[in-house]
Amino acid sequence: MTSWTIRTKLTFWYTSIFGGTLVLFGLLTYLAFSYANNKRIDVGLKEEAEGIAHYERISKNSFRKYVERISNERDEEWASGKYIAILNHAGNLQFRSGNLKDAHLSLNSHQIKEILSGKTYFKTVMTPKGRLLRIITIPKKDTQQLIQIGIVVNNDSALKIFLLALTALGCLAIIGSWFGGRFMAKKALSPIDCMIKELQQIETENLGKRLTIYPVKDEISELSGVINEMLTRLENSFNQVRQFTSDASHELRTPIAIMKAGIEVALARERDIYNYQQVLADTLEDLGRLSKIVENLFILAKADVGRYEIHMVRINLCPVITDIAEQLKLIAEQKNIFVSMEKMEDVSIDGDELLIRMLLLNLVDNAVKYTPLDGTIKLSLSKDKGCAKIVIKDNGIGISQEDSPHIFDRFYKTSKAGMANHTSNGLGLSICQWIVKSHHGTIMVESELHKGSIFTVTLPTC
Ligand SMILES: Nc1ncnc2c1ncn2[C@@H]1O[C@H](COP(=O)(O)OP(=O)(O)OP(=O)(O)O)[C@@H](O)[C@H]1O
Ligand SMILES: [Mg+2]
Repeated sequence: MTSWTIRTKLTFWYTSIFGGTLVLFGLLTYLAFSYANNKRIDVGLKEEAEGIAHYERISKNSFRKYVERISNERDEEWASGKYIAILNHAGNLQFRSGNLKDAHLSLNSHQIKEILSGKTYFKTVMTPKGRLLRIITIPKKDTQQLIQIGIVVNNDSALKIFLLALTALGCLAIIGSWFGGRFMAKKALSPIDCMIKELQQIETENLGKRLTIYPVKDEISELSGVINEMLTRLENSFNQVRQFTSDASHELRTPIAIMKAGIEVALARERDIYNYQQVLADTLEDLGRLSKIVENLFILAKADVGRYEIHMVRINLCPVITDIAEQLKLIAEQKNIFVSMEKMEDVSIDGDELLIRMLLLNLVDNAVKYTPLDGTIKLSLSKDKGCAKIVIKDNGIGISQEDSPHIFDRFYKTSKAGMANHTSNGLGLSICQWIVKSHHGTIMVESELHKGSIFTVTLPTC
């Protein structure tokens, strides 16, 4: 059944349920009909039995005539007609009609006692020839006798015709429901066929194509809407990957081209040792930049596929920030930037120390890079609403309102940043955002052009 199409499955279930209901209905109708028929037979048998009791009371002669009339003496196999027997109070046979031969319905003493006390007893028995006999036994209270009348019941043609008609109609209805079900399933699934055809046409080159949504509000149009939303998400992430690859190759190309040009110029003619040393130093610097880009790209690529292993441990942030501030002071000194630590509260978080250090280093690196000579950078750490709040404030070049929403995008750098610093790759804040997200925290920026920036990181405390 696993290889069946939905259309066949729907048809199968529809026909099974319909057919099952029909069979149940037919069975119940047949049983009701058969029950009513048996009731009719029982009533007839009772009337006959009471008639015998009556005739037997009038005279032996008229009783015998009556018995001969209602029983068929020539019928040796009880094919039709009725048979009659009269038993005494002990269940011994006193009289039987000719067609009965040696047979009679045996009764046990308990049944005899019950019948003699006034109960009418019915039983259906199977004859050795396979016929069904419906037998009634009634008491004849004045003489303490039992009167039995039997009738062959499995020759009931009305019941047979009814059963035949029911079976024929049932079969026709099931065949009809199979074809009807197939037709309905085809009609119901035709929008899915269209959807399949439309989806088959969507390739990576035309990811912008969408499924047609018809104005009818049904499950199919809902599914088309969901698929379209999924296609939009896929298109966005596909474009993001495309953009990432092209930006990454572009970023890598520039330092490589600079290095290549520098080496080519150096090799164009013979130079003194100082010139070669200068070229090697420049190349080393470019290689350092290249390796930083590759390292950042590697972190982001691993983060994207969820393969960066994060080792959560309890971290006391105070010594970590103090340590970062010491490192910051060393690089800030070269630009005569004053670094101060404002509030330093004792706060601990659950986090990956390496990543937390990477986050803080990226932020302080930006603060130094984008703050001109003689500027100031302030760091603070405090507890705020169950979170550790780290603030890095500088009075540098600031970020315009147009740039602010984009600075966390990969490879995004403001035009001002390019002018202020040539080692701007636009990856640091993307990494910061991923680190903060993976620690269930937030990162926000408040900035004003030419006035400075405030980066606020909050991380849940433990
Ligand atoms: N403190 C800041 N002051 C002013 N501009 C900033 C500051 N921090 C970030 N920016 C702006 O945001 C951009 C993105 O920063 P991000 O750290 O992601 O990249 P980057 O510093 O240019 O390069 P790197 O990948 O080396 O970090 C920067 O190019 C800069 O324009
Ligand atoms: Mg940076």
